[in-house]
Amino acid sequence: MPPRHVAVLHGPNLNLLGTREPAVYGTVTLAEIDRGLVERAKARGATVESFQSNLEGELVQRIQEVAGRAQAIVINPAAYTHTSVAIRDALSAVGLPAVEVHLSNLHRREPFRRRSLTAPACIGTIAGFGARSYYLALTAALDLLEDT
Ligand code: DQA
Repeated sequence: MPPRHVAVLHGPNLNLLGTREPAVYGTVTLAEIDRGLVERAKARGATVESFQSNLEGELVQRIQEVAGRAQAIVINPAAYTHTSVAIRDALSAVGLPAVEVHLSNLHRREPFRRRSLTAPACIGTIAGFGARSYYLALTAALDLLEDT
């Protein structure tokens, strides 16, 4: 089996992790999460690439670009989760298996966060485990790829 490559996408304001509302999102930085993903992927003989943007169109663009080199997507669309038809359509268009991630448990927060426009374009969602949500999502993505 050729080495598996997973594209990780982080949406708006996630570049501020570490200092952003630590009571909600914890104190781990995005760079630390990305390093943890690289290590965990390596331990399974896989690779990851990470990308963060505060702009919806850049996330759409990146989803289209990674389709040529990744076998799965792990995505935290952040606030765009609740608003973005464009990101949902991009995920559906490329058709790669995707896992949606949230640091916080959306169901324990404001009602508007309970609706995800992007989740229906993903295989599943992992939320509520802080930085560990990303690691669980990577595990889920790699497990899925092993099954196929
Ligand atoms: C988030 C949850 C979203 O509702 C919020 O807009 C974010 C982060 C999370 O990881 O918990 O920016 O996606």
